[in-house]
Amino acid sequence: MTIYRATVLDTPVDERAVWERPDVLRVESDAAIVVRDGRVAERGPWTDIRARRPREDVVDLREGVLLPGFVDAHAHAAQVHVLGRPGMPLPQWLEECALPEEERHVDVRAAHAAAHDAVATMLAAGTTTALVFGSHLAAATEAFLDAAVAGGLRVTAGPTLADRGVPPTLRVTPAQALAEGRDLLGRRHGRDGVRYAVVPRFAPACTDDMLAVCAELQGLAPGVWTTTHVNEAPDEIAQVRELFPGDPHYVGVYDRHGLVHERSVFAHSVHPGRAELDVLAARGARVAHCPTSNVRLGSGLFPLRRHLDAGVRAALGSDIGAGAGLGLLAEAREAAAVQQLSSDDGVTLTPARLLWLATRAGALALGEEEVGDLSVGRSFDAVWVRPAEGSLLARLLAHADDATDALGRVVTLAGAADIAGVWTRGARVVPTCAEPPGR
Ligand code: GUN
Ligand code: ZN
Repeated sequence: MTIYRATVLDTPVDERAVWERPDVLRVESDAAIVVRDGRVAERGPWTDIRARRPREDVVDLREGVLLPGFVDAHAHAAQVHVLGRPGMPLPQWLEECALPEEERHVDVRAAHAAAHDAVATMLAAGTTTALVFGSHLAAATEAFLDAAVAGGLRVTAGPTLADRGVPPTLRVTPAQALAEGRDLLGRRHGRDGVRYAVVPRFAPACTDDMLAVCAELQGLAPGVWTTTHVNEAPDEIAQVRELFPGDPHYVGVYDRHGLVHERSVFAHSVHPGRAELDVLAARGARVAHCPTSNVRLGSGLFPLRRHLDAGVRAALGSDIGAGAGLGLLAEAREAAAVQQLSSDDGVTLTPARLLWLATRAGALALGEEEVGDLSVGRSFDAVWVRPAEGSLLARLLAHADDATDALGRVVTLAGAADIAGVWTRGARVVPTCAEPPGR
């Protein structure tokens, strides 16, 4: 048993509360969190808890703030090495950056190196749970699952599936996807904190036969998640219209195959029609808003207000590697900027709402009951933001007006260097991550 002493900020509320009230931040200034068997066993004022537990080990995290681990609702395991390339429109970026890199993963050494870097990058940025597109190749996806388990990252992931519209090395037949998916799911789903996700890359890269296989795979076990891209860029949407002329719209393609439901997450949704939002809402599906990616690829401004008005729930995704790749704090500040640019329609994203989007929203989107805030009973998955001594952020935090102001400064200014510790299931995973192997 260990007691963590810290200023703890979290947002233990559901969608209704966060959009009805701008300030849903729970603040405990000198709190004690008692962790037993990886879980928050008790929490409360330090003086009360210490009086009852005078002999337990204490980890002093009083400098800075302790936040719940971040939940990334959309990332690509095989794209970490394209991070930082210049922004360009989606079709060009896929052709010139993403797909050539993903083809390199036929070499299992490249897959291992990328898997390790992806896990280390996410953890170092404070991401403790993620919904991840694996490599197209099952063996390379498995390298990522292994790296995630070794590093302590909670993942829901599966091989990315495509049977057209990508280079031949990345294609699998629907029959192969079914056989390999069944095998991987049978061996890994529900073990070591790994859950399986069915991941059609996007409708332009999947025939109806492949989407039918996806439907079959998602029914193989309880708790299997489904994720893909939708309505990201105008060219992609036009392509879907041509390839699926019988469907009313893009979301309708997935819906016809039964892929839109409470356990599915659709990345981007930058250009949805009202009928598409109604389908997403009626089925209880969620979207992953990936603001740095949308800005870098020039995809557009995410219409959060229209999603909320239609009853569609959103979380945040880094979209590594089209995004900026710096984790959920970077996504949160970009999300706020995008809403500012959305003129009359923008939703005010207060620091509390941004923290909620980076934590609890993702937990809800992934159906992860154990994470999302630091309430009693949850797993101790936490991020300690402690800016370097003498840094500007440290001085700003020391003179913050209140906890909301401090959180706003952290969201806007903190980088990976300010993340001094990360825990999952009560075990410290940063800075203990092993050095990555050479590329
Ligand atoms: N659509 C299909 N594949 C991808 C991808 O890898 N990244 C993004 N941002 N959009 C996609
Ligand atoms: Zn993506």
